[in-house]
Amino acid sequence: MKIERICILGGSGFVGTQLVSQLAARGLRVRVLSRRREMARELILLPTVEVVEADVHDQQELIRQFRGMDAVINLVGILHERTIGRVDLPSARRGDFQNTHIELTRKVIHAMGEAGVDRLLQMSALGADPNARSAYQRSKGIGEALVHEAGRHHIEHENWYLNGPKFIHGYGLNVTVFRPSVIFGRGDSFLSMFASLLKVFPILPLASAGARFAPVHVEDVARAFADSLDTPATYGQSYDLCGPQAYTLQELVHYVGDVTGKRRSIVPLGKWMSYFQAWAMEFKPGSKLMTRDNYYAMATDNVCAGGWPTVFDFQPATLEAVAPEYLRADTPRARYEGYRESARR
Ligand SMILES: NC(=O)c1ccc[n+]([C@@H]2O[C@H](COP(=O)([O-])OP(=O)(O)OC[C@H]3O[C@@H](n4cnc5c(N)ncnc54)[C@H](OP(=O)(O)O)[C@@H]3O)[C@@H](O)[C@H]2O)c1
Repeated sequence: MKIERICILGGSGFVGTQLVSQLAARGLRVRVLSRRREMARELILLPTVEVVEADVHDQQELIRQFRGMDAVINLVGILHERTIGRVDLPSARRGDFQNTHIELTRKVIHAMGEAGVDRLLQMSALGADPNARSAYQRSKGIGEALVHEAGRHHIEHENWYLNGPKFIHGYGLNVTVFRPSVIFGRGDSFLSMFASLLKVFPILPLASAGARFAPVHVEDVARAFADSLDTPATYGQSYDLCGPQAYTLQELVHYVGDVTGKRRSIVPLGKWMSYFQAWAMEFKPGSKLMTRDNYYAMATDNVCAGGWPTVFDFQPATLEAVAPEYLRADTPRARYEGYRESARR
């Protein structure tokens, strides 16, 4: 079946904004569900895109929004739990990863069954594994497993998402899972965060400096999603997405310093100091730079074993070809121009 109408969860974010722009440029109709419509201001301007304010954790709401769609894309994800470092809260108030990566995925799958939509693209992350030490990677890994399970089997039990999955063998959803390494591009939080830190600190103590990443450009990630929509060869598959080259964290921070003209002394921290820095940062109010869970995730290299998946008929961009332009001029105006350019408006 030709995919023409797509519902996206998490479409207002960094990856989502790029993906929605590319889908709109292909003339597809896109419904973006967002908890706050103003979070998706740039997208409202795009033709063929509607932004709907919706509680994506409400099962009935999801069923309503999915009706009449040909595909669902789930990009929702968080890197830190809001309650981390809040020792004053009872444990029942914690567990955002569980709700965001596992329970929501269950609800999406169930709602697709109810609404009669059978194509699902799920965003996961490189390193996702149900047995990982990091709770982020563990919850992403369980989310992946749920999606593949729904791809293999019919959903038998009406309330399976509440009572636990019960499947019968047979035809299920057409699912594709994407597992990118760290994603870079205009508006990213990773390289841009180091650019901001290097502006302020003359010396940068760096936790997990030897951790390895293969940064992949946001436009390439979005294009892989868009290309896979109508490609049956991608059904039932998981794709690791990496850029052409791997770097240590220290090399990446050096590179950001070179590009932005803020060359600083970087002091790599040992294992225990890295752990304590991550732990201390959990108590910083507001958005977190790092947590112990990130530290656990970085203990494993975030690089791909193979090359770029051949099913996608293009080669990923290098960091050096893209990053200088946006790292040097990362202003809201520059971001807006970037969105316009990718939407060809
Ligand atoms: N960025 C990376 O380097 C990277 C690397 C690997 C994998 N990923 C994965 O890629 C996906 C997108 O990442 P991103 O960088 O684009 O993230 P982002 O900019 O933070 O956007 C995340 C989106 O998820 C939605 N969201 C966040 N928390 C939610 C919650 N509790 N309930 C419902 N919706 C929620 C937000 O939608 P509203 O606020 O509009 O509701 C937002 O649009 C995530 O799943 C992430 O784990 C990212």
